[in-house]
Amino acid sequence: MPGKISASMMCASFAQLENDVRILENGEVEYLHIDIMDGHFVPNFTLGPDYVNALREITDIPMDIHLMVEKPENWIDVFSPQKGDIVVVHQEATHHLQRVLAKIKATGATPGVALNPATPLCMLENVLEDVGVVLIMTVNPGYAGQKLVPQTLQKIAVLKQQLESGGYAVEIEVDGNVNLENAALMRQAGADLFVAGSSGLFIPGQPLEDSIARLREVIR
Ligand code: DX5
Ligand code: ZN
Repeated sequence: MPGKISASMMCASFAQLENDVRILENGEVEYLHIDIMDGHFVPNFTLGPDYVNALREITDIPMDIHLMVEKPENWIDVFSPQKGDIVVVHQEATHHLQRVLAKIKATGATPGVALNPATPLCMLENVLEDVGVVLIMTVNPGYAGQKLVPQTLQKIAVLKQQLESGGYAVEIEVDGNVNLENAALMRQAGADLFVAGSSGLFIPGQPLEDSIARLREVIR
């Protein structure tokens, strides 16, 4: 299965949003990655439900909603998740992970769980039946433009091996510093879904169409 692209919309220009969305549609980008930050789980604020609603008005590209928030169980409904969307919560952000994942599944969206670079894979061993996506943070969450945490590449490879040996139908999503060089290494390690932001998609001076094509080539 070829790799898929999830465009990190916190890196897109607000001033030409609709124009960029049309280019993403033409490039058949599979998801719009929506980083939600609460200033507590991560020291930043980014996008919100109004932004998601505005996007839903102009495009049918499914949303890949990444909740970098404490107690994500309190915030699922405000994004009106629907079939075809992904909703990712952080294992570190809730005491009741399995319950949150079941709540997401009940909306029709695909449940996902994210791990920060320092969080070991063993924290997932009792929820691999409950998710369709595991998001491996390849940077420490909170900001665009950060550098890859190198040991996360091995984490991707170990997770891939665990999923294959356990027969789990789970995709590996990678998020952070997905430039062409890192994307190739992540793909080699077993990544399926690539969150592309300032490193690999929205690059000043490079047409978005070209960025999509170059990334597509590396992750095919
Ligand atoms: C990190 C963000 C990333 C970011 C990706 O917290 O969640 O998704 O937008 O952008 P770059 O490519 O700048 O790492
Ligand atoms: Zn993200």
